[in-house]
Amino acid sequence: MEKSSKKRFYVTTPIYYVNDIPHIGHTYTTIISDTISRYKKLAGYDVFFLTGTDEHGQKVEKAASEKKLKPQQLADQVVGRFKNLWKTLNISYDFFIRTTQPFHEKAVQKIFQKLKNKGDIYKGVYEGWYCVSDENFLSEDVPLEKGGYKICPDCGKRAGIVSEDCYFFNLSAYQKPLLDFYKKNPSFVRPPSRMNEVVSFVKQGLKDLSVTRTSVRWGIPVPDDPGHTIYVWFDALHNYLTGIGYDRNIDRFHKFWPADVHFIGKDILRFHAIFWPAFLMASEFPLPRTIYGHGWWLKDETKMSKSKGNVLDPHDILETFGSDPLRYFLLREIPIGLDGNFSHEGFVHRVNSDLANDLGNLIQRILTMILNFFKGKIEESEKEKEDDKKLRLEFAALKEKVFKLYEDYAINRALEEIWVYINSVNKYLARNEPWKLAKMKNKRKRLGRILYQAAAALRGISYLLYPVIPGSSEQIWKYLGEEKPLEEESFSKLKFENYKPAQKIKSPKPLFPRVSLKDFLKEEEIQPAPARKEEKMEIISFDEFKKMDLRVGEIVKAERVEGTEKLIKLDVDIGTEKRTMVAGIGDVYSPEDLEGQKLTVIANLKPAVIRGIESQGMILAAEVEGRATVSFFDKDVPTGAKVR
Ligand code: MSP
Repeated sequence: MEKSSKKRFYVTTPIYYVNDIPHIGHTYTTIISDTISRYKKLAGYDVFFLTGTDEHGQKVEKAASEKKLKPQQLADQVVGRFKNLWKTLNISYDFFIRTTQPFHEKAVQKIFQKLKNKGDIYKGVYEGWYCVSDENFLSEDVPLEKGGYKICPDCGKRAGIVSEDCYFFNLSAYQKPLLDFYKKNPSFVRPPSRMNEVVSFVKQGLKDLSVTRTSVRWGIPVPDDPGHTIYVWFDALHNYLTGIGYDRNIDRFHKFWPADVHFIGKDILRFHAIFWPAFLMASEFPLPRTIYGHGWWLKDETKMSKSKGNVLDPHDILETFGSDPLRYFLLREIPIGLDGNFSHEGFVHRVNSDLANDLGNLIQRILTMILNFFKGKIEESEKEKEDDKKLRLEFAALKEKVFKLYEDYAINRALEEIWVYINSVNKYLARNEPWKLAKMKNKRKRLGRILYQAAAALRGISYLLYPVIPGSSEQIWKYLGEEKPLEEESFSKLKFENYKPAQKIKSPKPLFPRVSLKDFLKEEEIQPAPARKEEKMEIISFDEFKKMDLRVGEIVKAERVEGTEKLIKLDVDIGTEKRTMVAGIGDVYSPEDLEGQKLTVIANLKPAVIRGIESQGMILAAEVEGRATVSFFDKDVPTGAKVR
């Protein structure tokens, strides 16, 4: 398991913009990072966990002016909201960095100057499309819309043209070094699908990157050229160095750099997997070990974001449920690489079923029996029987599995395994029926053994759950009569049979009360979505149906539409001709899955331009929770045949 000498581990979240208050999406990355940080601390690592806020740039400047505030005032207000939320969510960061802190600004200027002296940053003129919302220059292949403007492919907002003197970073020179690096370090970007995305992007060629602005005043001034401010991403990415002490606590910096993992949302993958390593190569710092690009939380199948107005405020949930149910739900519901759709119904169901029923009832049952039958301390117990031993050995195996899964950041899988064990303990109790034994005088020792096994199992469960639900785990630990704080028990020494309660078991308060969906939604003032069957169905006549030209089409070629997550461009043979169609199925199917397949297409649909491509028809697919399932024909049918 973990090495005996204390190893260091450095984990980060992105630093969040202060243009708006935090939402569920922001809490997600922070909860993942906190869980991994807590796990690593248990596993004996010397951990540094960094989070913070990204306070410069046009986005914050604009939001502040809309609120008639100075950018610094806005930042000071919003930063408090983030810090309070992290406190409520039990986030145990080691340092909170703000990019307006003078030590950070000075260090960024120093690195900028170093790169300028080396020739990696040089002066020129920039002309191009810029998206203020994402603080991002659009690549040249983003097509012009009819009105002569461009739309940001990431957020869908209209971009503006900027033309200004600026300093460029010599990104093109790092194309080959980056590709070599990716090749040698295939798990630099995780999950692997995101690594492939990055590699193919870099292979297409990299242009030099403008790293200063003259039109933005709210930024770190370029040393000796204060008419320019440093590009907010150049500024922000360096927080990962300055936050652990670059240029002010150099021992700590050398102890923790390079980072073991930067957890980020997939929206900011390019900045972290291309620009960041290139900047670090230029300034000759070692590169981080892993960039983990997690999926998004969607609401109504679209990314939760301020600009779309569909964000969920975590406070509503926290007020009703407290922090651990939210932490548990976000981590249990989806593997960290994939997207998840947040629904109130799903949330309440998961929390009631896993936490209130499975775990909550188990805690209550075991502790109450020990209190009722042994006045809180098991004094007599017989030797382990085969069934008792099985429960102990199953825990040892579980611990090994969970260790590996946490090491691999597969938190949802670790939780799944822990729940398998929770069910085993429930079954063990059902099989051995301690409540019946309690009524028999000569079964006291047997009763003692059964309740000891159950309590030892519960202690182990609470320990393994601690990274995810730290508050509740500590509470269970205390209820079980442990005096030593849970965090002082090392992961490698954790053993079932080490359970030796120092004190009497305490009377437990329910940790996870059931909340009904009705009560929760009332509180939220959100109405559940109407059931589909209640939707009004529009009836069409047979003649109208006959107007549709439905045919068997064969996909002869499929390729992803660049810069999009979901779109695939298809060349479809419809018997009489070849048509181009754009379909939103790229999150479920890869081009290789599609080529050669036959399916139903609507051939006489009015063409539509999607991302600059004329889509001349449509394919049919079932839609389940926003994901498409295409109905391919399971027998060979002639291409172009009519479908009726
Ligand atoms: N300031 C930059 C990051 C600089 S890091 C050097 C930024 N900030 S942000 O406020 O927009 O936060 C982005 C991060 O918040 C995402 O990368 C992701 O980690 C998290 N999320 C924001 N919305 C999200 C969802 N809807 N779902 C999951 N996480 C998302 O970008």
